[in-house]
Amino acid sequence: MTTRTAARSTGLPVRLRAAPPGWELSADVCVVGSGVAGLCVALHARAAGLTVAVVTKVQVDDGSTRWAQGGIAAVLGANDTPAAHARDTEVAGVGLCDRAAVLALVTEGPERRHQLISWGAAFDRDGAGRLLLTREGGHSTDRIVHAGGDATGVEVQRALTEAVAADPGITLVEHAMVLDLLTDATGRAAGVTLHVLGEGSADGVGAVRARAVVLATGGMGQVYAATTNPAVSTGDGVALGLRAGAVATDLEFVQFHPTALHVGPGARGQQPLVSEALRGEGAVLRDGAGVRFLTGVHELAELAPRDVVAKAITRVQLRDGVDHVWLDARDVPGVAERFPTIAASCRQVGIDLATDLVPVTPAAHYASGGLATDLTGRTTVAGLYACGEVACTGVHGANRLASNSLLEGLVFAGRIGAALARDLPVPAAAEPAPAVPGGLLDPAVRAELTATMSSRVGALRSGAGLAEAADRLAGLAARGDDVRPGVDSWEATDLLTVATALTAAAAAREETRGCHWREDHPDAEDGWRVHLDVRFDDAGHVQLSRRTAGTPVAVGW
Ligand code: SIN
Repeated sequence: MTTRTAARSTGLPVRLRAAPPGWELSADVCVVGSGVAGLCVALHARAAGLTVAVVTKVQVDDGSTRWAQGGIAAVLGANDTPAAHARDTEVAGVGLCDRAAVLALVTEGPERRHQLISWGAAFDRDGAGRLLLTREGGHSTDRIVHAGGDATGVEVQRALTEAVAADPGITLVEHAMVLDLLTDATGRAAGVTLHVLGEGSADGVGAVRARAVVLATGGMGQVYAATTNPAVSTGDGVALGLRAGAVATDLEFVQFHPTALHVGPGARGQQPLVSEALRGEGAVLRDGAGVRFLTGVHELAELAPRDVVAKAITRVQLRDGVDHVWLDARDVPGVAERFPTIAASCRQVGIDLATDLVPVTPAAHYASGGLATDLTGRTTVAGLYACGEVACTGVHGANRLASNSLLEGLVFAGRIGAALARDLPVPAAAEPAPAVPGGLLDPAVRAELTATMSSRVGALRSGAGLAEAADRLAGLAARGDDVRPGVDSWEATDLLTVATALTAAAAAREETRGCHWREDHPDAEDGWRVHLDVRFDDAGHVQLSRRTAGTPVAVGW
């Protein structure tokens, strides 16, 4: 069944307006993005003897990976099994996880984590040299490794960046914002256009020609006013994929992390994370009267899956008319030493993690959906792969389990590496970029866009609010035409693209499931055990179609 959204007078751009490419670079594989997913794909492609260009919007370590405080979940030890990890993942995903993808994650995860260690990542160990295992929300046992207490991402990024830098077959292009996909005469991905803010020959709009393109651009948290995501997370990969004709799915399932540090009223942009690992070590949540409010809500209390905790916090905030609740970590032994990143963030706003209550509030954290892929990372556009947060492999369903995201990057990067080794065609000439319809969004309206998303498409949604958001976004699209091309307007346009698609999917899903919470449809409905696939028509209008859970997306190449 296909549902078309109401016709909009203004479609979204199906190509970004930019100058014609003035320079180019060639490689077997073009990887867009340089976090755990992108760099692991690059290393696997090199192991298969392929040359790789990694292009990244700012510097190599500016993506989400570096900010990961939580760790990498994978089975280790006698008290755990892949079946238990799969069960926890599927419980969190509330009926929408893809079984085969989950099995790949939990069975291949331990070996991929070990491989990361062999590439140089050092994780926390006990006195006898054994990996220290901890727990986060939704996990039935301890299976998560961390580095530096709460600095796992810093260590993963460091190790992978060094491994990539040591390989002369990988060309790294920094300060390169990806624009659109290039295709050959058959419609297969043949590279990307991008804009480099550099010095020397590779300034301005250029192109990387390649036999395959792997998007590893991370998430879209910046579509909201407050997020744990860094500034670069503007949904560029999903927007590029939609413009290129790819199917995105599960976009409505945006995970709100329950405990971002509340730094003050009206905080905007990236907010400091207060890791769930603190709750794994015994920290509890309290309302303004000092009362714990999770104990009657879920048997795991503060270690319930993330959507349950975020909803409970939001309810207290609405009930009491407050903009934060309190995290009490005062009884966690050695808390400031064990969680140095969080202690430092707290110190910056005058809070002592060891002796004070910490003000926290939910913030947009993770896109459980993305470009739909099969089990080898292939999207529905030939030659275009997606890996990491930009992808929807089917692992997360309606809500990602904590510390499964770095793991997903590791596992599916390995699968994409194997597919690239098998499947690359002979090089073909890329067609010239087609004419450019549509306008760019004026970056000045970005604040209105993010405010609309936070107030109408946030943790708690309603049909009326979603309809209002869709109208406001359509109004912004209609205001776009004469804007000068540049990083600000391309980013704003990508944000509008993903915001429009996300809002359409959230409005269509008339139920509450996982991290999609509708106050006008408060229960999960059997009839909604479906994925909502999103694609653009030729005029840049969103089309939605339902796909029964358990039915893989038709990749067809
Ligand atoms: C956290 O440390 O709470 C975040 C971990 C994750 O998002 O998986």
